[in-house]
Amino acid sequence: MHATRSTLLLFAGCAAAAVAALTGCGSREGSGETHLLWADQKQLPLSDAFLNEPDPSPQPPLPGDAHIDFAEMKERLERGKPAVMSRQRRMLEARYDLSDRPSDVLMFRSKYVQRGPRVRLPEGMTWEALASMTPEQIREEDAFPAGFYPLPHPHHEAGGMVFPQMVIDETKRQTGRDLTRFDLEFDLPEHFLPEFPPPLFLTTRPDLGDVSQGQLITEQNFYELFKGILSQKDLDGLRLLVTPFPQQQFNLTDDRRSERPSMGVSCFDCHSNGATNGATHLAPDQRAQQDRRRIDTPPLRGLNVQRLFGSQRALKTVEDFTEFEQRGAYFDGDQMSATKKGVNVLERGSQVANMADFQEFIDFPPAPKLDPATGKLDPTKATAEELRGQDVFFGKGQCASCHPPPHYTDNTMHDLKVERFFKPRLVNGRMANADGPTKTFPLRGIRHTPPYFHDGRLLTLDDAVEFFALVTQVKLTEEEKRDLVAFLLVL
Ligand code: HEC
Ligand code: HEC
Repeated sequence: MHATRSTLLLFAGCAAAAVAALTGCGSREGSGETHLLWADQKQLPLSDAFLNEPDPSPQPPLPGDAHIDFAEMKERLERGKPAVMSRQRRMLEARYDLSDRPSDVLMFRSKYVQRGPRVRLPEGMTWEALASMTPEQIREEDAFPAGFYPLPHPHHEAGGMVFPQMVIDETKRQTGRDLTRFDLEFDLPEHFLPEFPPPLFLTTRPDLGDVSQGQLITEQNFYELFKGILSQKDLDGLRLLVTPFPQQQFNLTDDRRSERPSMGVSCFDCHSNGATNGATHLAPDQRAQQDRRRIDTPPLRGLNVQRLFGSQRALKTVEDFTEFEQRGAYFDGDQMSATKKGVNVLERGSQVANMADFQEFIDFPPAPKLDPATGKLDPTKATAEELRGQDVFFGKGQCASCHPPPHYTDNTMHDLKVERFFKPRLVNGRMANADGPTKTFPLRGIRHTPPYFHDGRLLTLDDAVEFFALVTQVKLTEEEKRDLVAFLLVL
């Protein structure tokens, strides 16, 4: 513990200076910069984990401004892009080990789950030492791992929808639509994202298995794939889910972020095949801009057994979410902009109902090791490690108090009060502060949909286990945590 303390002092002193925008030990110029030697021997400036450089990009015009010179704006924002992305990359590298280290656990068809906790700990600090400290000590000594802080959007000051490159490429190949933004790009490496395209299982036709046949479902192929499986009404719901509608960054006006005028985005551009591709956005709700949450697209699986929709908005029906998503979140909660850019108002009785019906049929992926009645492990199929993990989940780890089977959600909200562990600080334009109550997302099928948490700050299930063990103070041993991960992987 003694060695740990002295490292912490260095950590605390340096981090405090980093808040004052890279002065002292945070300075990137000159030879006097303090480096921390992380566990993997990589030398990185500590200040990078808490980067708070001023927005390097020239300010875009205000939405609604009728006098935008598109060519001039595009040229300016393109010029700013490399600095924006490098600011984000340095912050991510200092928070996480981003290397590609797949395990032998398959998501579904071809992609392997990434191994190990990726949140970095300073040299000398261990998970065990952290678990022995109180939230107040961790806060006072600035010992909360940087990767557990709220994650900023790739360009937090600008915000908006951002699609991973794999999604942009396949959408363009199939449909000719280009989801590229000229002002920024997606930030997390693709090995931390869900399998793409993901499988789709229907509650109405479980006998068919994955009905996507390994294809990304778009306006080009949905009819061919589903004409013999769905009613005419649900086919129409799916049609609307793959139809692009205007949105803040993708539209036909001069205040857009696509090179060419765009017809917009479709629901399935983010919720690929009714699941998720990891596309990110800012929540429409909070203000100021620095207080807005980054949000990671959740899968639309198992909506039929869920009762609240949205991480904080807690809408009560899928119909409501479907109807209001395009009016609110698509335009950052700004009605002026929505009107100008061509908001598409869906008709409740036919369009919304059809879209919601289809979404309610999207099932969780199969979990062959779970008993169909209880949702707990079938002891004749599970390994000893998985069974021990289940014991931790229901016992010492107390995970089941909020994530009860069979769907591993209590269908309500909880405020984890993560802010007990750190002092508020601005990180790349995002004020890391109290988050408030959030929906308990279900853990069924969880290995399929990294990254985790409403903002995607937890890159692997090992990170999630470390995070929840620390935040709920249940003090698990290394072995208990390994077993718990093994259990989560078969849910
Ligand atoms: C940026 C890509 C994006 C697009 C496009 C998009 N969504 Fe979402 N969706 C999200 C994100 C992010 C959330 C989480 C919202 C939150 O945390 O409040 C979400 C949440 C949802 C939820 C609630 C899920 C839950 O588990 O609580 C539903 C239902 C939903 N979307 C349906 C739709 C429909 C229908 C459309 C098309 C009209 C659509 N989405 C378009 C990203 C997207
Ligand atoms: C007090 C209630 C509570 C307890 C106890 C709890 N969780 Fe959670 N869990 C939540 C909430 C709420 C969320 C969503 C938080 C967010 O996204 O901001 C969540 C999210 C998660 C996620 C990410 C889900 C996703 O789709 O991104 C994982 C994984 C998880 N929990 C695992 C665990 C494990 C493992 C334990 C036990 C060590 C545990 N949780 C204990 C409430 C709880």
